[in-house]
Amino acid sequence: MNAPAKALNQGVAPVTYGVGDRPPRGDYASAASDYTCAQRWDQYTPEQHALYARLHQRQTAQLPGLACDEFIQAVQQLGPADRVPRFDDVNERLVPATRWQIVAVPGLIPEEAFFALLARRKFPVTEWLRKPEEFDYVVEPDVFHDLYGHVPLLFNPTFADYMQAYGEGGLKASRLDACELLARLYWYTVEFGLIDTPQGLRAYGAGILSSAGELRHSVRSPQPRRVAFDLQRLMRTRYKIDAFQSTYFVIDAFQQLFDATAPDFTPVYAEVRGKPQIEAGAVLPGEREFAAG
Ligand SMILES: [Fe+2]
Repeated sequence: MNAPAKALNQGVAPVTYGVGDRPPRGDYASAASDYTCAQRWDQYTPEQHALYARLHQRQTAQLPGLACDEFIQAVQQLGPADRVPRFDDVNERLVPATRWQIVAVPGLIPEEAFFALLARRKFPVTEWLRKPEEFDYVVEPDVFHDLYGHVPLLFNPTFADYMQAYGEGGLKASRLDACELLARLYWYTVEFGLIDTPQGLRAYGAGILSSAGELRHSVRSPQPRRVAFDLQRLMRTRYKIDAFQSTYFVIDAFQQLFDATAPDFTPVYAEVRGKPQIEAGAVLPGEREFAAG
């Protein structure tokens, strides 16, 4: 399915919400109408490859006991850890695994263009890498966040199907003016989700798994609230983009995500709009909480 006309790239950085006042970085002039571009792997410098390698090494050392097994097992599918992976090389393994592929983009892209790519099992990965002074934190997603954080779970068939369903749901939400509610689902699952396993709580969200500090915070800190995944409860919950999360939603299996997104969301959006919003960090009376893992 093609992106609606208003999502077409016109060579300038798109307007996106939730990321501050600055226009997104990236060379939008060289991107195609669907916002995809070439990775231009040859233009990464030795210093950039070394920076990527340090990011990869730091995160991977933290994974045991904090990241879900599916993620840990799939990280090696990204290829050699000493350089920025070539997207084409990753696709040689990803396409046979789940029929997903990664495509390069200049940076953040409009929601409708994003949804259209996901619906076609294409995951957009930012081509640029953060600067050395952004080693610990980068405001916009870069190639490390997008690739290291998101791509391993695209090797999991159930999660991969959920991501496509999310894209299809997003195209529909655009027509229903419900993108903000649906964005919360992405935020609290794909970016900041936790999963309850027999070994304890583990992280599966890319925002957590690509973050130096939030991985341990999300699983082990006593500070945040951890509540069971519930679609309406989640869609009512606001989130913060400039601090560690104060609420995490916990699933019991990736199948739960896929099942929750299978029904038509039209009546869900109507119900959610009729109920009060919930602040990040709030817990409702009688709500079950998960203890730190
Ligand atoms: Fe992300």
